[in-house]
Amino acid sequence: MTGGARGIGAAIAARLGREGARVVVFDIDGKAGEERVEMLRAEGVDALFVQGDVAREADVVRCVNAAVEAFGRLDVLVNNAGIGFSGRPIFEQMLEEWERVIAVNLTGPYLFAKHAAKVMAERGGGVIVNIASTRVLQSEPNTEPYSASKGGLLALTHALAVSLAPYRIRVVAVSPGWIDTSEWQLPPRKPQLTHLDHEQHPAGRVGRPEDVAALVAFLASDEAGFITGVNFVIDGGMTVKMLYLDEAVIESAVATFTGDSELAGLLRRALASGDPGRVKEALRRALGT
Ligand SMILES: NC(=O)c1ccc[n+]([C@@H]2O[C@H](COP(=O)([O-])OP(=O)(O)OC[C@H]3O[C@@H](n4cnc5c(N)ncnc54)[C@H](O)[C@@H]3O)[C@@H](O)[C@H]2O)c1
Repeated sequence: MTGGARGIGAAIAARLGREGARVVVFDIDGKAGEERVEMLRAEGVDALFVQGDVAREADVVRCVNAAVEAFGRLDVLVNNAGIGFSGRPIFEQMLEEWERVIAVNLTGPYLFAKHAAKVMAERGGGVIVNIASTRVLQSEPNTEPYSASKGGLLALTHALAVSLAPYRIRVVAVSPGWIDTSEWQLPPRKPQLTHLDHEQHPAGRVGRPEDVAALVAFLASDEAGFITGVNFVIDGGMTVKMLYLDEAVIESAVATFTGDSELAGLLRRALASGDPGRVKEALRRALGT
């Protein structure tokens, strides 16, 4: 479980552990990793922490060896460790930052897959789950390194699925949308979400690490034995939602910010009418002018 100290990775580690897996948490943050493993052990999970950087091959090899030494086998690899990007505009982006994002989000999963699959192959099979992102399908401005790294991870997934099929190793990708990880940070935090954050999702809420963990648990199980090489989007419907003006969200936003639900309805109906005069009048009222 790479990046298992906190966030989505910690939730996946806890879920797989509850289902009986012995878990190796690998993370660059030694303190957080030790703390997470203590928490897993307190829940009765047989867990081990290995500190390291997914982008360093020596660390990856050390982790795979530690897993085999401690537990005698390796059945599931979850490539979850990932980093975001500063969001610098394209003309100001630094090569060093591009290289680090690609190293952690793409080279790391490649190295882990290569070394873990060798052990899996010797023992008759296994499963590799790569945590990508809905950014493989859509972008906000100024996210080139992150989106490209996750797009590469998707291609790596199908390449590995084909190469490793003869060894009975399945390889799948999971692409989460907006997942609020606050409750899985160290220390845990309270989610700071508004109802607008939830409402813009067709599923009616922002995702939780537990949602991703449940999907990973299924994909890692024998029940998913006919699934390999593909990507699963888990985003509460955000990727398939057409981006027209969402009147319901606008109404809700106006009600939230003005505290006036009657005015919110007025503005929504004005927008729906397409009549600029009515929209202007509603806005005038909203601004109190
Ligand atoms: N949270 C979201 O909304 C979301 C959405 C889509 C995809 N994802 C992906 O899910 C994965 C987990 O995201 P999260 O939100 O839980 O992140 P997070 O920052 O909460 O946790 C990431 C963990 O990975 C570890 N890590 C970072 N770099 C590492 C490295 N080089 N080597 C080893 N460990 C390293 C961190 O120390 C941390 O414990 C990432 O790959 C991320 O891109 C997250």
